[in-house]
Amino acid sequence: LNPKLALTPPMGWSSWNTFKKNPTEEVIKQIADAMVRTGLKDAGYTYVNIDDFWSPGREENSQIIVDTTKFPGGMKALADYIHTKGLKAGIYTNIGLKANYETLASGGFYEQDIKKFAEWTYDYVKVDVNFAPIRTEEFYKKEFTDIYNAIKKTGRPMFFNICNQGGGSYQNWAPAIANSWRVGADIDHSPKGAKTQWDGFIYELDRSSAFPEIAGPGHWNDADMMLVGVGDDGGRLVVMTQEEQKSHFSMWCMIASPLILGNDLRTISKETLDILLNKEAIAINQDALGIQGKLIYEQSTGLQVWVKELKSTKKKKYAVALFNRTDSEAEITLDFSKAKLNRKIKIRDVWEHKNLGKFTNTYSKRIPSHGIQMLIIK
Ligand code: GLA
Repeated sequence: LNPKLALTPPMGWSSWNTFKKNPTEEVIKQIADAMVRTGLKDAGYTYVNIDDFWSPGREENSQIIVDTTKFPGGMKALADYIHTKGLKAGIYTNIGLKANYETLASGGFYEQDIKKFAEWTYDYVKVDVNFAPIRTEEFYKKEFTDIYNAIKKTGRPMFFNICNQGGGSYQNWAPAIANSWRVGADIDHSPKGAKTQWDGFIYELDRSSAFPEIAGPGHWNDADMMLVGVGDDGGRLVVMTQEEQKSHFSMWCMIASPLILGNDLRTISKETLDILLNKEAIAINQDALGIQGKLIYEQSTGLQVWVKELKSTKKKKYAVALFNRTDSEAEITLDFSKAKLNRKIKIRDVWEHKNLGKFTNTYSKRIPSHGIQMLIIK
């Protein structure tokens, strides 16, 4: 596929985490406006992605039906609106088939549907597996390869996101055909019985760290749309604290995941914006080397040291996260030799935005429960 579309992880927003079954033209336009107004666009967030439930399906064996109650102006006009804001537009479908359901599946119609998305001038296509009749590696590989070919055939550069939802051995086939592929099930429904947003974040983080070597410029492990700033959903999940949201965002930067927001940008708080606009953190995610950071060691259960190599012209440069997943405050020691760093290094704190100085052999910091310290190391 077109690797130039994704030399660094994509950044943007998707309707799913907040609007679920009710994305509308009005909301999407307001989100596009908010993306510009809040400075998120200037910070690099560019995709505005319409997730599921923009279409109730298709006419008997034929064209896609657009839900004109939700989208009275149609999908092309909406993409046009998004483009006038200097942003890019994303759209959604599924592999497989499902008759008489309230949403779209493109099985048997891949070329026709993808061509339509290109005519409507979409720039990003998410393809999900909600109606896959069988969930085998062979089936997924075949269907998604057909979509890949359909996208190529349009001649329009469209980012291809596979929503694999954790099925099969995606690592064997997805990187060759997609710009990104979802690794786990939904961040707001996982693991089974999750009671907090934090649980979902940790589940995705661990899943998406399984095969760091398959990520790189052009193709990325997708740890799912973020929960940063996503509010209360009627008490189902405990909302993350500011500290937890900082950890969530930092780790999506460390593992070079797509940075796709899921919150309501129209009412975004100053605290949430402070997290999402941290330029130094974003630069770690968008680093040109495109290396996915890895867990290097655990000092003890839940006290973790993650390292991501960054591009540098002279001396080696790294991002390091000291991440406390435990329920109490704890001191984490970065042991330079264990982390395969030089014996003498310079350290900068990415959230405090300040240089901490030069250190020899070790650096230690008390980290609050569920907190993180993200560092740049030279
Ligand atoms: C699946 C996906 C989600 C979302 C919904 C829409 O659950 O994993 O990201 O797209 O479908 O129905």
